Amino acid sequence: MSNDRILSPQFRSRVMSAAEAAALIPPGANVGVSGFTGAGYPKAVPVALAKRILDARLAGQKFKVSLWTGASTAPELDSALAIVDGVDKRLPYQSDPVLRNKINEGSIEYTDIHLSHTAQLAAFGFLGKLDVAVIEVTGITEDGKLIPSSSIGNNNTWLDLADKVILEVNTWQSAALEGMHDIYSIALPPHRTPIPLVKPGDRIGSPYLTVNPEKVVAVVETHTTDRNSAFSPPDEASRKIAGHILEFFAHEVKAGRLPENLLPLQSGVGNIANAVLSGLNEGHFENLTSYTEVLQDGMLEMIKSGKLTVASATAFSLSPKALEELNRDLARYSKNIILRPQDISNNPELIRRMGLIAMNGMIEADIYGNVNSTHIMGTRMMNGLGGSGDFARNAFLSLFMTPSTAKGGAISCIVPMASHVDHTEHDVQVLVTEQGLADLRGLSPKQRAKVVIENCAHPDFRPALWDYYKRAYARADGKHTPHLLTEALSWHQKFLDSGRM
Ligand code: COA
Repeated sequence: MSNDRILSPQFRSRVMSAAEAAALIPPGANVGVSGFTGAGYPKAVPVALAKRILDARLAGQKFKVSLWTGASTAPELDSALAIVDGVDKRLPYQSDPVLRNKINEGSIEYTDIHLSHTAQLAAFGFLGKLDVAVIEVTGITEDGKLIPSSSIGNNNTWLDLADKVILEVNTWQSAALEGMHDIYSIALPPHRTPIPLVKPGDRIGSPYLTVNPEKVVAVVETHTTDRNSAFSPPDEASRKIAGHILEFFAHEVKAGRLPENLLPLQSGVGNIANAVLSGLNEGHFENLTSYTEVLQDGMLEMIKSGKLTVASATAFSLSPKALEELNRDLARYSKNIILRPQDISNNPELIRRMGLIAMNGMIEADIYGNVNSTHIMGTRMMNGLGGSGDFARNAFLSLFMTPSTAKGGAISCIVPMASHVDHTEHDVQVLVTEQGLADLRGLSPKQRAKVVIENCAHPDFRPALWDYYKRAYARADGKHTPHLLTEALSWHQKFLDSGRM
C-alpha cells in the first residue's frame, strides 16, 4: 500500500498492522474514536480489536472497552465490538442495530449526551480518563499535521486528552478534503472567550488537527470506503410535512419575522429531514445557508442547484451514490462546505447568535408539546438525542416533525403524555406531521393542546385525544396542564398489551 499520504518520517516509522495497533489497547480502556455517522470512523483497528476481544473471551478472559465517539458510526466499529460483547459503556450517540439491542437487553451501558457537551464533559474530567484515541485521518503532512477525514466530531479533543494515539490513514478518502476543515478548540473555564464566528461560512481555525507526536503509538494504513445507508425517496407523508414547513416559512417571511433567504438551516437526521431539504431545493427560496451537524444528500443537491451557498457541518452523512459523486468532484465544493469540531457545529452560543432554524425528527410529542426523540414506549432506546437538544433550545425557530402515526397506523405519534421527554414544552415551538403544523409560539399549555390535537394528530386518534383532554380538564386538580395521571401513559401500555394504541 502506498504511504505517500504519510509524509512525516517520524509518523512513518510508527506504521504497523491493525492487529499490532489493537494489541496496544488494554482491557478496561476508555477509547475515544473518530466517526460521526458513517463518515471518518476507524475501519481496521476496531475490527482487529474485536478479534482480540473474542480470542480473550474464548480463553476465558474478560475484555471490554468503553467507547467514546462523535456520534453514530458504522458496523465495522459499533457492530464489530458489540457482537463480541466487547463494549462496557458507549457514549454519546449511536444508531447501530446490534449495539441498540445490547443496550436494550441491558448488557451495554449507554450514556446519551448532547453532542455539543461531549467534548467539554470529557475535558472537564467528568467522564473519567481517556486512555487511547483511535482517529482516522486523510493524511499526515511532512511537519506532522493531520489532514482530517470526512468527519471531525470530537477528534481534536480526543487527540488532546488521550494518553496514547493510534492513527488510521485512509487513502480511500479524497485528497481534496485537505483545506475543507476548520479546527478551533474551545478553552476551558475560566479562560473561555467568545467564539469569533458570526456567519456559517466564517473560518476561525486551522485546516489541520494537531497531536503531540510522542503520544502516537501506531499508524495504520487503510483503503476503505465510508458507509451510510441510502435514503428512501420521500414518501407521501414526508412530502406533506415538507410542504407544511415551506408554507410556514413563506408565511413567516411575509410577516417580516424571517428574511427572504430565511436564516441558517439546521436539519436533523433521517428521511423526513432529507425530504424537507428536497422540498426546499424545489421551492422558491434562494441564497440559503446552513449551519448544521451533518451534511446529507439533500444539502449536496441544494449546493449543486445553487440554492444553498454555504454549508457548515461536522460530518458528511451521504448515501453511497451521493458520496461517490462528492468524491469525484470534491474540489468543486471546497468553497461551499466547511467541516468543524462538533462542539462548534452544535455550539449553543453560535446557534443563538446566528439565529438558526432547527428542524429535527421525533418519536412522539404530547398534546402539550413535550417531545420524545429517543425512547420507544418510554423504555427502549432508539438512537439518542444527538444534537437535537443543542439546536432546539437555542435556535431562532425550533421545529419537530414526524408522521402522525407509526407501525402502519397502530401507534399515534401524538399522545396524552410523552413516555420520555428529551425536549420540554419550553424548547419546542412548532410541531409538524403530514396532517398539518402546530405553531406553539407563545401559547399556554391549554392553547397548545388544542392546536396539537387539531392540526397534528391523525383523524383516527383525534377523537380519543379530545376525549382525554376534556375529561382531564374537567377532573384534574390543576387546570394549567390538565392530566389524568392514572391514564396519561395508558396509550403506551395498551400498545404493549395489544399491539395498538
Ligand atoms: N412509537 C414507536 N415507534 C416509532 C414511533 C413511535 N411513536 N415513531 C417512529 N417509530 C419507529 C418507526 O416505526 C421506525 O421503526 P423501524 O426502524 O422499525 O421502521 C423508527 O422509529 C424510525 O422512524 P422513522 O419514521 O423512520 O423516522 P426517522 O428516520 O425520521 O427517525 C428519529 C426519527 C426520532 C428516530 C430520529 O430523528 C432520531 O434519532 N432523532 C434523534 C436525534 C436527532 O434528532 N438528531 C438530529 C440532530 S442534528
